[in-house]
Amino acid sequence: MTETNSKPAAPEPGAPKPGPRELIGAAALQERIRELAGDIDRDYADSDGLIAIGVLKGSVFFLVDLLKHLQIPVKVDFFQTASYGSASVGGEVRIRKDIDLSIRGRDVLLIEDIVDTGYTLRTILDLLRFRGARSVKLCALLDKASRREVEVPIDYLGFPIEDLFVVGYGLDFDERFRNLPYIGVYDGE
Ligand code: IMP
Ligand code: MG
Repeated sequence: MTETNSKPAAPEPGAPKPGPRELIGAAALQERIRELAGDIDRDYADSDGLIAIGVLKGSVFFLVDLLKHLQIPVKVDFFQTASYGSASVGGEVRIRKDIDLSIRGRDVLLIEDIVDTGYTLRTILDLLRFRGARSVKLCALLDKASRREVEVPIDYLGFPIEDLFVVGYGLDFDERFRNLPYIGVYDGE
């Protein structure tokens, strides 16, 4: 290579566009997830079996990495939700896929990628309590607290974030970017 100019070269026409701007890097995510797993291990040391429940699809990457660090016995199940139109208008949440396991009398840890308005989590937390779980706690990777419309206490939180639209590590824009290893800010093409 004879290139001596230190200025970045203009992208070639047709070259892949740079991905979403990094907000939380892969190493920082993994470090925080390890800490959360330590907290959960400690808090449930005397539990007779934890049921971890993820909300599809966004929580999957986080759930897998988190659970791989746990020492305590854990069962895994999933909900899938959808909102009628936009969840932020009215907050009516539909259960599209229910869990398979019985949670009556069990300790349940709900695992979610991000808490935004709170309607999704509020609905699921209420349902889990209604079904007679012994305890229900929430573990969320990201919290956009400034967007909250209904109260949702987060027992284990990865990172608080500003009101930005984020993608990666499970989070999508129109089903894209879920497989990015980091959390990035999506600000259009
Ligand atoms: P809530 O019911 O408004 O709290 O919505 C939570 C759901 O909205 C999350 O599980 C995500 O699927 C989605 N969501 C909220 N904010 C973002 C974002 O910044 N990026 C991608 N998905 C988001
Ligand atoms: Mg989601």
